[in-house]
Amino acid sequence: DWTMGAYREEAIRLIREQVGDAKVICGLSGGVDSSVAAVLIHEAIGDQLTCVFVDHGLLRQGEADEVVTMFRDNYNIPLIHADEQELFLGELDGVSDPETKRKIIGRLFIDVFQKYANEIEGAAFLAQGTLYPDVIESVSFSGGPSVTIKSHHNVGGLPEKMGLKLVEPLRELFKDEVRALGRELGLPDSFIGRHPFPGPGLAIRCPGEITREKLEILRRADAVYIDQIRRHGLYDEIWQAFVAILPVRTVGVMGDGRTYDFACALRAVTSVDGMTADYYPFTHEFLGETATRIINEVKGINRVTYDITSKPPGTIEWE
Ligand code: XMP
Repeated sequence: DWTMGAYREEAIRLIREQVGDAKVICGLSGGVDSSVAAVLIHEAIGDQLTCVFVDHGLLRQGEADEVVTMFRDNYNIPLIHADEQELFLGELDGVSDPETKRKIIGRLFIDVFQKYANEIEGAAFLAQGTLYPDVIESVSFSGGPSVTIKSHHNVGGLPEKMGLKLVEPLRELFKDEVRALGRELGLPDSFIGRHPFPGPGLAIRCPGEITREKLEILRRADAVYIDQIRRHGLYDEIWQAFVAILPVRTVGVMGDGRTYDFACALRAVTSVDGMTADYYPFTHEFLGETATRIINEVKGINRVTYDITSKPPGTIEWE
């Protein structure tokens, strides 16, 4: 694609101009955006870049390994795997308000990046894979009281005390353009096609208080759901699919016993840019089979619902 080829060259020129001889650290989430940003920046400035993959304890099953392996095996980019689960889950303990969760996570990400930046001589920039929709959805409406739709953890600049400036080479792009740029940069198709995963991770798919028990149940249910979607050949038709664990236990029967376990909601949407979305019209057969599998395979869930809300008025995530 010649347009993306030109974009790539221009982006590389701008990154070099902005960064000079300084060192850059790049927050890698394992999603398409931050991976494309990392590879692009690496092309621009080589080993002036160090990536930091933060495991905040809110990742999906097997995700940390997948991301670290994919980067170590395919790219020669220095990568720090930061295990910060205790920090994040500790600070989130007992918190149920969605905006408070996001603010805590955003602050901790910055603390962690700062900590690693302090260890790198000459580190002056923090790179992120912020996209255009992230930028505009975080901006307050003008007129009337100021309402923020959501404070995306990775938008809004950095606190002044942080000695790092931002590098955001994807800030003008939509998701489909980032994917095109990723292809242009030679990222594997399987990686480019991954569903988006939000920086705050499973925290915003666990309405109410976050506990390790709920996260573990959520991970298992999500893995079964995504496996179902892949088996039925639907993964690439769907923009994003995930499970949310609901903050409610309900009664069920299993064998000759009564159960009292969590309910969950399946979410799957089609979208072009994440700004608007329609729920995916699964067949009842697919939904029934998936519910049965989740209840049989995931201890802790005894009821499955399907979220049929489009965006607007709903958002894609639950928080
Ligand atoms: P919503 O829930 O606002 O989500 O309809 C739109 C798209 O953005 C993703 N999302 C985020 N991505 N940091 C991110 O990197 C965030 O804080 C964040 N919040 C939502 C969401 O997964 C969907 O693809």
